[in-house]
Amino acid sequence: MTPDQLRQSYLDFFERNGHAIVPSAPLVPENDPTTLFTGSGMQPMVPYLLGEKHPKGTRIADSQKCFRSQDIEEVGDNRHTTFFEMLGNWSLGDYFKKEQLRWFFTFLTKEVKLDPQKLFVTVFSGSEELGIPRDSESVAIWKELFAEEGITATDVDNAEQNGMNNGRIFYYGEKKNWWSRSGVPANMPAGEPGGPDSEVFYDFGAELQLHEGSPFKDEPCHVNCDCGRFLEIGNSVFMQYQKQDDGSFKELPQKNVDFGGGLERILAVAQQTQDVFETELFTGTIQQIEKLTAKKYEAEHKHSMRVIADHLKAAVFLIKDGVVPSNKAQGYFLRRLIRRATVKLHQLGAGLDPKSLFTIADAGVLQTYDGIYFDRDQDRQLIDTVLSDEAEKFTKSLEKGLRFFEKHDVIDGKIAFDLYQTYGFPLEITVEMAQQKGQQVDVEQFTKEFDKHKDLSRTASAAMFKGGLADHSEITTKYHTATHLLQAALRKVLGKHVQQKGSNITAERLRFDFSHNQPMTADEIKHVEQQINDWITADLPVTMKLMQKQAALDSGAIAFFLEKYPDEVSVYTIGKDAESDWISKEFCGGPHVSSTGVIGPIKLIKEQASSAGVRRIYIQLAE
Ligand code: ALA
Repeated sequence: MTPDQLRQSYLDFFERNGHAIVPSAPLVPENDPTTLFTGSGMQPMVPYLLGEKHPKGTRIADSQKCFRSQDIEEVGDNRHTTFFEMLGNWSLGDYFKKEQLRWFFTFLTKEVKLDPQKLFVTVFSGSEELGIPRDSESVAIWKELFAEEGITATDVDNAEQNGMNNGRIFYYGEKKNWWSRSGVPANMPAGEPGGPDSEVFYDFGAELQLHEGSPFKDEPCHVNCDCGRFLEIGNSVFMQYQKQDDGSFKELPQKNVDFGGGLERILAVAQQTQDVFETELFTGTIQQIEKLTAKKYEAEHKHSMRVIADHLKAAVFLIKDGVVPSNKAQGYFLRRLIRRATVKLHQLGAGLDPKSLFTIADAGVLQTYDGIYFDRDQDRQLIDTVLSDEAEKFTKSLEKGLRFFEKHDVIDGKIAFDLYQTYGFPLEITVEMAQQKGQQVDVEQFTKEFDKHKDLSRTASAAMFKGGLADHSEITTKYHTATHLLQAALRKVLGKHVQQKGSNITAERLRFDFSHNQPMTADEIKHVEQQINDWITADLPVTMKLMQKQAALDSGAIAFFLEKYPDEVSVYTIGKDAESDWISKEFCGGPHVSSTGVIGPIKLIKEQASSAGVRRIYIQLAE
């Protein structure tokens, strides 16, 4: 199976089972200030999992581009990548465990034609503390599915301590078999949905775990032990709970399924390789790296080559979705990816030609995904410019930075900060180089230095930089809808030239930048505030519709970064009638409150200059 065939066969399979196929959302969530990147297929589905009606119905499937910045440290082994495609299907209060587990099992065994003997599964062991029971229902379903293949599937507890004991179904706790965008239940903010899940693993064979020199050879092997024998290839989340303000969990009004499986991993298994970097999704890139470095993808070079291949692919996809390298937010991650790839290439002996990155990206990424996520001819220019500019900036200081590094015997946090500040070395590069010298960088000391300079902390919370959610509370959602009201009020009072230039939401306030050439008068400020509060008092409904981009524009919807949106967009309308009597219509990924009354009165607290031709406004909820 080629990657394209695999992707298509998954979508076709779920289409045959009543699912509407939707396009991938962009890697930068549209107008969702709570998270920097689309890190899972469910990210664009959050409003629907929480109960909003999806215009395409209750069964949805797609292949979603994902970027997980939090996995950056794991890249280098045979399976982890920061960028990947997630095959996903959702039941929005429609089917549940029985259909989901059967469909995925059937897809794997009948479409991908995997040997069911090689499949092993996990289920949630239950939590007394959360009041959520052990998932015996899934166990019963799995037993039946395996029995149909002539396999007796035994369920086994505590495999971490006791090993596999000839089991096929394994119970794990919330660290392994609970899924939410922010991980385990304790880390979830109030309002966030989550639930127990059931994962499927592929067995590459016991020899692996026993092989000579394996750090795992004396430990009991189990599906989640990371020895390399098992590869997780799909996760069915039973997204049926929502975290409450008091920390407890309540059942959502609807029982959802959120399934995600990595295309790269399923492909690797289908092609009988344990290494995702040996599939066509990476071979073009790896071959270019081999050529430029005059080294083979083998032994000790594998790790660095995987990092380069992953980082460049992620960088190309981020650039395509509108990210540019910077010291802030999404741009900061892009910068780190490009710089780390540059250092690794240099260390492998590729020299310092800033064009090397594009040479690899073009032959690897653009060619591989041409016609799927890229139009190679059209996109080359942009990718080349962004990659080469950033590489050029960095290579200028790279050699000096390396000399500075070599000059110091001990790489403490202060030196690491100098390397960051003066030579543009992202921390992880310094940490890695120090490790090669057998040293550990004092990250706390680095952070202290860093905080003094406040470069990043101004732009986003620490949680966001770990790739997690900043705050997904109700307050954020209120501010989010208030952003639309503010833009509509400004356009009404000041004129249609007003356009959003940026926004930032914290639990305390909304900051909004917009195009306008002079300070607002006291009267205009009062007027805008009054208008927003009138719309709030009128309790206008907020509705969402998926539309073709052009049709959305024709209907009067406004967009923040037009070129960033896919052909099909979600449009939020505020007003008594979404067709004929509305006050705001915007391209946006949500989430939003259901009607404006929920927001409560707001106050416009400040209006000031931001940059040439751009004003900045701050708004607060009244209490
Ligand atoms: N949302 C689930 C995951 O990302 C399917 O694993």
